[in-house]
Amino acid sequence: MTGDAANEHKIAGALTEKALAAYSRIDNARLRELMRGLIQHLHAFVKEAKLTDEEFEIAWALMAEMAKFTGDERNEFLLFCDVTGISELIDVINHSRAPTAVGYALVGPFYRANAPLKQRGESIVSDDTEGDRVRITGRVYDLTTNAPIGGALLDVWQAATNGLYENQDKNQPDYNLRGRFQADDAGAFELAALLPTAYPVPTDGPVGELLRLAKRQAYRPAHIHFIVSAPRFETLVTQVFRKGDEIIDCDPVFSADRNLTGDFRKSNGEFLLRYDFELSPGVSRIPKAPIP
Ligand code: BEZ
Ligand code: FE
Repeated sequence: MTGDAANEHKIAGALTEKALAAYSRIDNARLRELMRGLIQHLHAFVKEAKLTDEEFEIAWALMAEMAKFTGDERNEFLLFCDVTGISELIDVINHSRAPTAVGYALVGPFYRANAPLKQRGESIVSDDTEGDRVRITGRVYDLTTNAPIGGALLDVWQAATNGLYENQDKNQPDYNLRGRFQADDAGAFELAALLPTAYPVPTDGPVGELLRLAKRQAYRPAHIHFIVSAPRFETLVTQVFRKGDEIIDCDPVFSADRNLTGDFRKSNGEFLLRYDFELSPGVSRIPKAPIP
């Protein structure tokens, strides 16, 4: 190291220590710990990459651009975390499940709370929605005892065949392709949905540009979202994909998995899916909805 470089190294090190000390008096211990880690890692990244003035300008301009694409209908920051694997990493760390059980999957940016409560067997699809229908039946049960979880709640949502969720598409009725269903005393449920088809994550914003630069394909494999919950059980946030889907291994948000596939079978002109959900004893927590 030259004299100049050694001096720069020393000043940079002292600056990091100063910044760390400046956030060391936060009362909330967890927030204090998170700020410490964040400053340490960001400073290390800037030093290692030798970030230039121009690159820093691009970074903050990019965040301002992401803010422009964030609002009631979508959150570009969450999408950025999804396409860079951060959201999935958080799921992996916080929601490890037995390999034999249905796995966890991203909530995604299009979940809306308070979907209409539906009767057993009802459809979440408005009559004028194009596409094949699928009847879904299954059971919710306790992973540890195999006992049925009577009254478990299933919150279901999916995109239309035009690739849009209802809140992104003014031509769909409010809450189309969304519904909540209660399992009966035997933990059994039944509903009708749209046969899911692949759709792209939004690509008209900065995240789309990033995907293009990385030469990544933007289509998520066909899926239906489920949040399955019951008091005293850990809430299961998951997605059901189609067995045999050709793009299952290149999900732009790293969430699709062969362990999350269902066998959508055609029988007498109708698609059927039989799928069970196992819950582990734990704390019931419904995720925050990214959109109102
Ligand atoms: C979704 O499946 O709804 C989704 C998940 C992550 C990013 C974009 C869409
Ligand atoms: Fe989705």
